[in-house]
Order: sequence, then C-alpha cells, then structure tokens
Amino acid sequence: MNLNIICAEVEKIARSVGAFLKSEQAKLRNTDIELKGTRNFVTYIDTEAEKMLVENLRGLIPGATFLTEEGTVSYAEGKYTWIIDPLDGTTNYVHGDTPYSVSIALMKDKQAVLGVVYDPVADELFSAAEKGKATLNGNPIKVSSHNTLTNGYIGFGIPYSLDARGEKILQNAIEQFRHCSFRIKGSAAAEICYVACGRSDAYFHSGLSPWDVAAGTFILECAGGKNTDFSGGNGYIFSKELVASNGAIHKDIVEQIVNY
Ligand code: IPD
Ligand code: CA
Ligand code: CA
Repeated sequence: MNLNIICAEVEKIARSVGAFLKSEQAKLRNTDIELKGTRNFVTYIDTEAEKMLVENLRGLIPGATFLTEEGTVSYAEGKYTWIIDPLDGTTNYVHGDTPYSVSIALMKDKQAVLGVVYDPVADELFSAAEKGKATLNGNPIKVSSHNTLTNGYIGFGIPYSLDARGEKILQNAIEQFRHCSFRIKGSAAAEICYVACGRSDAYFHSGLSPWDVAAGTFILECAGGKNTDFSGGNGYIFSKELVASNGAIHKDIVEQIVNY
C-alpha cells in the first residue's frame, strides 16, 4: 500500500469536507446547536461532515474500520483504522469563531501511519504519511528550537470534565504566567499542528479523545516533535493526556506543569 498516494486522496477529502464546514458555518442558526454537556456543543453539521468522511474514506482502504467522534459508524478492531473528528473546535464554530478543523488519522496495527488536519478558514492543510516528512500546504515544516519555559509560546486546553488533577495543572500553569505566553485556541488538532510547524513550542491538555490527537500527534512526530502522556509515557492517543512539544521544552512542561 502506498501511503503517499492514499494521503493525497485524504487531503482532497479533508479539503472538501472543510469547505462544507465553512459554507455551513455562515448559515448556522441557534436552533441547530445542541449541548452534549455543559459547554460541549454539537450540531447536525458534525454528524453530516462525519458521514461524508466515512463515505469517502471507506473506498480508499477496503476493510478499514473507523473510530469516530459522532459514532455514525460503529467501531470494530481491524488492521487499519481511520480515527476521525469531522469538526474539531465545535465551540469556536457555533460562536462564529476560528480555528476549527477536520482531523483524519490512519492507524495500522494501532500505530499512526498517516495524519491530515485541515483548517478551512485559514486554508491550512497539515499532512504527514512518512517519518521526517510533515507539510503545511505542501511545504515542509519542522518544530521550533525554543528550549525553556521562559519566553515560551505554549498552547493548552481546558477539559470538559475538569477534575481536581486538571485544576492543579492549571494552577501550575498560572505559576508560569510571568515567564511564558499561553494560548487557548479551541481546536486541539490544529493546536498540535501549530507545534509541528514551529508556530508554538508546546501544547498540553487532559481529557482529550483519540480523534482529537491521533492525526496531529503523528504530524508533529514527523515534523521532529515529541508526544507523551503526562508521565512521559507513549500512551497519549488513548490515555486522555497529552504533552506535545518541539522536544526541547518537553521535560520542563512535564516536570513543571503536568506531572507533579
Ligand atoms: C474539542 C477541542 C478543544 C478541546 C476539547 C475537545 P470538539 O474538540 O479540541 O480544543 O479543548 O477538549 O473536545 O469537541 O470541538 O471536537
Ligand atoms: Ca475534537
Ligand atoms: Ca468534534
């Protein structure tokens, strides 16, 4: 199987579903917006976009299974699995804000082998299907080299279920407010890619799901970055804990912010 050829097809699919999201955002009415939980929004567009993705991806690898946020197709184990979030950043989306993105990862034997994240408003398509080769709109990208928390530019997110541990991590971040710049942008998939292209130095978040992180973390790895869970382990796709960084600043984020 030639993953680069498949990746080119996935990029087309992501661009077309992204265009759908963008065109629908302008038409969104209050009655279209539902809540999955407090401050956790969903719309019919999430479901429609997911159906479009499943229908189009299905033809690329016959027999591949799906793990999707909206559950329009049931999950089954398989050699190849697509992990998809049709709309990452729904809270931004329903408020007429950005960024939001389409996130598509391909797993082979539970290891990521391909990732595509597309933000249709910025028209930024992050992509990787080969170690050492990550791109933004076709141009090679790599991580930054900043290696201290001081003057770092660091993204993070606040989990929908904020428990005591999550609160402690936010307290730890507050202690760094005098030293570095923090940003919460609201689309984990896109924010991980911002680390991949060197725009930010690191990103951390607890309470994330596989579809939020699978594509972005693979792209970041291919751009020379590092992903771990909060203890420094490699279960980050399924463990709901992620530190994604340029590598150089990773230890400081783990030791001084998320692992205590
Ligand atoms: C959310 C976004 C957000 C993160 C949340 C995610 P959704 O995804 O990635 O940045 O803070 O935890 O659930 O719900 O918009 O697909
Ligand atoms: Ca998401
Ligand atoms: Ca989503």
